[in-house]
Amino acid sequence: MISIFKFFVLVAIFNKSLADDYLLNKKRFPADFMFGVATSAYQIEGAWNEDGKSMSTWDNLTQTDPETILDGSNGNIACDSYHKYKEDVAMLKELGVDHYRFSLSWSRILPNGFPDQINQPGANYYKNLIRELRANGIEPMVTIFHWDLPLALQELNGVLNESFIDWYADYAAVCFELFGDDVKLWTTFNEPKQTCTGGYGYAYFIPYIHSEGLLEYQCAHNVLRAHAKAYRIYDERFRASQGGKVSIVLDAYSYLPASDSAADITAAETRMQFDLGWYANPIFNGDYPEIMKSRIANRSKGEGRDVSRLPEFTDEEKIALNGSADFFGLNVYTAALVAAMDDPPISNPPSKYQDMGVNDYQPSDWETTSLDWLKVAPWTIRHLLNWINDHYHQPDIIVTENGVCDNTGTFQDTQRVSYIQRYLSNIRDTMEQDGVNVIGYIVWSIMDNFEWAQGYTQRFGLHHVDFDSPNRTRTPKQSAQYYKNVCETKCLVDDDFECID
Ligand SMILES: *[C@@H]1O[C@H](CO)[C@@H](O)[C@H](O)[C@H]1NC(C)=O
Ligand SMILES: *[C@@H]1O[C@H](CO)[C@@H](O)[C@H](O)[C@H]1NC(C)=O
Ligand SMILES: *[C@@H]1O[C@H](CO)[C@@H](O)[C@H](O)[C@H]1NC(C)=O
Ligand SMILES: *[C@@H]1O[C@H](CO)[C@@H](O)[C@H](O)[C@H]1NC(C)=O
Ligand SMILES: *[C@@H]1O[C@H](CO)[C@@H](O)[C@H](O)[C@H]1NC(C)=O
Repeated sequence: MISIFKFFVLVAIFNKSLADDYLLNKKRFPADFMFGVATSAYQIEGAWNEDGKSMSTWDNLTQTDPETILDGSNGNIACDSYHKYKEDVAMLKELGVDHYRFSLSWSRILPNGFPDQINQPGANYYKNLIRELRANGIEPMVTIFHWDLPLALQELNGVLNESFIDWYADYAAVCFELFGDDVKLWTTFNEPKQTCTGGYGYAYFIPYIHSEGLLEYQCAHNVLRAHAKAYRIYDERFRASQGGKVSIVLDAYSYLPASDSAADITAAETRMQFDLGWYANPIFNGDYPEIMKSRIANRSKGEGRDVSRLPEFTDEEKIALNGSADFFGLNVYTAALVAAMDDPPISNPPSKYQDMGVNDYQPSDWETTSLDWLKVAPWTIRHLLNWINDHYHQPDIIVTENGVCDNTGTFQDTQRVSYIQRYLSNIRDTMEQDGVNVIGYIVWSIMDNFEWAQGYTQRFGLHHVDFDSPNRTRTPKQSAQYYKNVCETKCLVDDDFECID
């Protein structure tokens, strides 16, 4: 499964982490390398019920069940970007990014969820935003769905309803139709693993249904088929006239073997396949990873089931899925080490953890942040980018999210500066030394915003937002100054004279 060459690369990366040697890459990024920042609709827009917008699942959760949010807050106003989008674009322009990644609110465009009623003022908000971006030389990169499902569709069982595939495809077609003349970069779903494993597996996320190893697989099956359907609609109806690119955004940890033993190397591969491969393999290779199919089928049989808990694609679906991405959209924040373990005994209820049968952890000496899971491990991104390159036919990769939080609200955000610098340096190494086609990098986020269940307690912004002021005043942090220089010089050192061409 793993070539000798790969083995040595892995060991080398593993050792590097131990040695903790870090040399900043001073080579300039290619002139056409994309530098951007990201947001999502619910996290910044506010105006939750203005101009004909209906309720989304997040409006419903935060308003009826505020105690699920750490500080009891919601996105009713958030950064007020619905009213302040011109100020946002001026901020992007000042920062010097060439791309802005944002999402569309389904319930703003189609209040009842379906395309029979398009809410024109909602559509106009995005048209105006896109026009403003283009007028300032900033390319929009649009996420069609970033978690805020119209409540009316959740009432019909949401993502788990087979009809979701059609609902989503119809919505995506409306978006291509409305905005596609001015949008050349599309992604269908943001981090579907959070929707499925969070929402229907471990239940840490809307709609909090606990069904590990069962409904989480059904959820992913529907999301993947909805993605493929939207992609093929773009092919058939829009690609020729609009000429854009369509993909999906997948979130991943870099999973590295905990040691150089063959068992741990195999375990890390299994973990990657169950995490990223679960979504990426159908899209780039036409089916679920073999290891998922065989392990889940075998364990399902052991549980006395007639069919595997992992659904199967029809031949037609495989064809639609296979190659349904024009680039690889990757969200990455952190990493973990993976060790082999004894196969867990068959149990009911099942779980994805047992289906994987490996053990992962973050070493206690890794650099910490204000969120437990977000350990800083910049050298590991090289392993992840190589893994994607090797498994999915050397795709163009855009790092669609990378960034770090704090809970102090500081303007002297030195950890964020250092985090971005080190991740970018390792990305530059990977491009230069391994020939991996990374074509863009997008920071999460341009400004502090509503961080889901963390409310406003965790700040990810290059700009500070004063949530106590009705103006939601935005102020650049030290990291904005740093990133501005990166966008301008395409280089990671402060002094341009030190950059290597
Ligand atoms: C709306 O939120 C409440 C509280 O969290 C929840 O019980 C209900 O199921 C939600 N409605 C839908 C359709 O998800
Ligand atoms: C699934 O959606 C259809 C409409 O497309 C609806 O008729 C049906 O009741 C929904 N199923 C559930 C379980 O809500
Ligand atoms: C996906 O497409 C590739 C290249 O065309 C092909 O080799 C592969 O067999 C396809 N996968 C499936 C599952 O059909
Ligand atoms: C299949 O599952 C059984 C338990 O039901 C287990 O003993 C066996 O090792 C598994 N085989 C494979 C190839 O995973
Ligand atoms: C709010 O912003 C407006 C326009 O930028 C400005 O004129 C006003 O002084 C600000 N008010 C506060 C309280 O900061």
